Amino acid sequence: MSVASDSDSPDEVSSEDLRDQVWMDRALVLAARGDHRARPNPRVGAVLVADASVLAEGFHEQSGGPHAEAALFALLGDPNQARGATLYLTLEPCGAFAGKQTPPCVEALLPLGLERIVLATLDPHAGTAGRSVARLRAAGVVVEVGVRASAARRLNGPFFKAQARLAAGLPPLPYLSAKWAMSLDGKIACHTGHSQWISGEASRRASHVLRGEVDAVLIGSGTALTDDPRLTRRDVAGGDPLPVVLDRRARLPLKSRLVKAARETGLLVVVGRDAPAERRTGLRDAGVEVLEVEGEDSLGPLLLALGARGCDHVLLEGGGEVLSAAFAGDWVDRALVFVAPRILGGRGAPGPVAGVGASEVGLGPAPLSLEVRASGEDVLLEAHFRLYP
Ligand SMILES: NC(=O)c1ccc[n+]([C@@H]2O[C@H](COP(=O)([O-])OP(=O)(O)OC[C@H]3O[C@@H](n4cnc5c(N)ncnc54)[C@H](OP(=O)(O)O)[C@@H]3O)[C@@H](O)[C@H]2O)c1
Repeated sequence: MSVASDSDSPDEVSSEDLRDQVWMDRALVLAARGDHRARPNPRVGAVLVADASVLAEGFHEQSGGPHAEAALFALLGDPNQARGATLYLTLEPCGAFAGKQTPPCVEALLPLGLERIVLATLDPHAGTAGRSVARLRAAGVVVEVGVRASAARRLNGPFFKAQARLAAGLPPLPYLSAKWAMSLDGKIACHTGHSQWISGEASRRASHVLRGEVDAVLIGSGTALTDDPRLTRRDVAGGDPLPVVLDRRARLPLKSRLVKAARETGLLVVVGRDAPAERRTGLRDAGVEVLEVEGEDSLGPLLLALGARGCDHVLLEGGGEVLSAAFAGDWVDRALVFVAPRILGGRGAPGPVAGVGASEVGLGPAPLSLEVRASGEDVLLEAHFRLYP
């Protein structure tokens, strides 16, 4: 597991490797600027370097817009400046027309006389999948692959997961981000149930940005009944995620904020076979989509159903019982944990993950990587449990 760094870096690196990592880090920063508008495309960054100076930079801003390479060359102006330079890309340049009007990026790169191209990862999309690298090498360009590969994969988890499942012939399954806010002593609510707000303003804003980047926001009926949330993205740009409630007994009140807004925002409620018919009818009459899932584990069937309707990223916002089910079922791809500088204490105050829990320390799920960032007065932990090739 890596902490606050990238696990791609070997212990001993040459100065050229170090230079490559520094420029790739810059390309990753640029890639991260591509927000929800890039979806379902990956976020990609590009940096063109000659004599230790940046000639131009670019990133993929929105789906249907210029790719990172095209954005960079539009800024560069005179393409002759690229002769003998090194291009850093977080993803292999696209290699197929695939119904597009414009030629693939690899065709635009070939005539430039670049000396080297350094890539974080290959593009797993079937239309490219290493073909661009082969084409560039055949044309005499030195191509290196794998600098900051894990960081690039983490940045585009939903894209890499979708492509990996497609390549393996598996049905689509959304990337699952779990998120919670807790106190310094690991409580998600007080012993009284009071929980708003544990995290600070910057973290709450980050949570809304996150909602704008996913297709669906998921909670359990316990949270829906206790907090009466809206689950909408507020005061930030982004898409409008579908709110989803796991509610076996269809207990969600018709006067809840989620139900009252259902005709406007959409609302999917996942009920069990024994959910009373009159409650289902009441929900349907209020404009709610009711999905019946058989058995105790409603999460897996729900995620497959969301995948089948084109959702590639779902945000699970708790509470403890559904988070426990998500970890127990091994559905979680990453966890985003806002830790607030406050002690809540209390024997009866809940922690983020309930259920039965691990019987031994070594049996609890452990992430592959853990990054730590500041989030206003809080700390944000980003734990990745899966990396897709
Ligand atoms: N600080 C935070 O970030 C945060 C976030 C969320 C919640 N919270 C707090 O957490 C508390 C609520 O948590 P909670 O654990 O009581 O409730 P929860 O996890 O939100 O909901 C649990 C309920 O979901 C239903 N459910 C349906 N399908 C399920 C499945 N596959 N697995 C597990 N449960 C399923 C079950 O009720 P049925 O059998 O009736 O369906 C279960 O009792 C509240 O105090 C809330 O404020 C805090």
